[in-house]
Amino acid sequence: MSLLEVKDLVKHYTRRKSLTNNLKLIVHAVDGVSFSIAKGEVLGLVGESGCGKSTLGRLITRLEETTGGEIYFREEEISSLRGSKLRLMRRNFQIMFQDTSSSLNPRWKISPIIEEPMLNFGMAESFRHNKCLELLDLVGLDKSDAEKYPHELSGGQRQRVNIARALALEPALLVCDEPVSSLDVSIRAQVLKLMQRLQQKLLLSYLFISHDLAAVSNIADRVAVMYLGQIVEILPAAGLEKAGTHPYTRVLIESVPVPDPHRAGALLRPAVRGEPPDPSNPPPGCRFHPRCPRAEERCRIEKPGLRKFESQHYAACHLL
Ligand SMILES: Nc1ncnc2c1ncn2[C@@H]1O[C@H](COP(=O)(O)OP(=O)(O)OP(=O)(O)O)[C@@H](O)[C@H]1O
Ligand code: SF4
Ligand SMILES: [Mg+2]
Repeated sequence: MSLLEVKDLVKHYTRRKSLTNNLKLIVHAVDGVSFSIAKGEVLGLVGESGCGKSTLGRLITRLEETTGGEIYFREEEISSLRGSKLRLMRRNFQIMFQDTSSSLNPRWKISPIIEEPMLNFGMAESFRHNKCLELLDLVGLDKSDAEKYPHELSGGQRQRVNIARALALEPALLVCDEPVSSLDVSIRAQVLKLMQRLQQKLLLSYLFISHDLAAVSNIADRVAVMYLGQIVEILPAAGLEKAGTHPYTRVLIESVPVPDPHRAGALLRPAVRGEPPDPSNPPPGCRFHPRCPRAEERCRIEKPGLRKFESQHYAACHLL
C-alpha cells in the first residue's frame, strides 16, 4: 500500500501579463502529475528552476489548493479536506525549506521554536519540554542549545533545528525542498547523512527536492525527473546514470560535474541548450521538443504519455 498517491495533479496560477497589461496568463506550474511514495521510501524530485518542484511539494502537504487531480494519503482522498479534518491530517506532513535563517523566528529561543507545533496541538508543557530535549539529541544538538537564539547557531545547526521541529509531531512524510543548498559545502554532507539516518531510524518517507541529481540519487530510492510541470521519467536511483533514458534526463546526467584529472576541482559538462520555455505558454506535443536533440516532426504535435519500461521505470518519449 502506498503512503501517498497523487493522480493527475494540476496547479495553474493566474498572473497579469505585465504591470501595464491587464491580460491574464495561466501559469501551468504542475500539469497532470501522478506518482506514489511508499512508507519508508525516499522519492527524489529533480528538474530545472521553475519546473514546478516546490509547487508540487506545497500541493501534497496541502499548503496550497489544487486546480485538479487527487491526493490519497493511506488511501484516503485528502485534496478536498477542510477545517479541523485538514488540520489533523496535516500533522502527517511536514515541509523543510532551503533557507535556514528566514525559517526560524529570530526573536524566539530554540525551545519555543521546536515546541510550537506541539503547542498548536494542545500538548502539555512538561511533555513538550521533554520531547524538545529528546529531539535536540536526535538531531545531534546539545540540550543547552534549547536556550539559544537562532543567530547564535551556525547554518548547519539551524537546519538541524528545522529538522527537529519538522519531527516534533512525528510525521509520516517530509517534503525536503532543497534542504542543504544554502549550507556551506563542508557541512552539506553531514546534514544529508543525518537526514538519511533519521529516515531509516524512524521509517520516514521523503519527497526530496533538489537541482543536484548526484545528491538526490545518493539519498533516494527512486527519482522523478520533472520538466515544465510534468514528470518525464521516474526510475530507481541505483544505476540511474546508465538507466536514465529520457533525452532530458540524459542532459541532466551529462550536466553533472565530473572530475578533471588535469585541473583542480570539477568540470561542468554542458547543460541543456536554450532557455526553458514559458510555463504560461507551454509548447504543444512534447514540451521538451524545442530543446530536445532528438526531436522529430511527431514530437511537435503529439504529447507522449508515461510508459512502463521495467517494474519501476516509466518514461514519456515517442522514441523510447
Ligand atoms: N504563487 C504563485 N503565483 C504565480 N506563479 C507562481 C506561484 N508560485 C509559483 N509560480 C510559478 O510556477 C512555476 C513553478 O514554480 P516552482 O517554484 O514550483 O518551481 P521550482 O521547480 O521549485 O523552481 P526552483 O528550482 O527555482 O525552486 C514558475 O513558473 C513560478 O513562477
Ligand atoms: S518525445 Fe521527442 S521531443 Fe520529446 S523527449 Fe522524446 S524525442 Fe525528445
Ligand atoms: Mg523550488
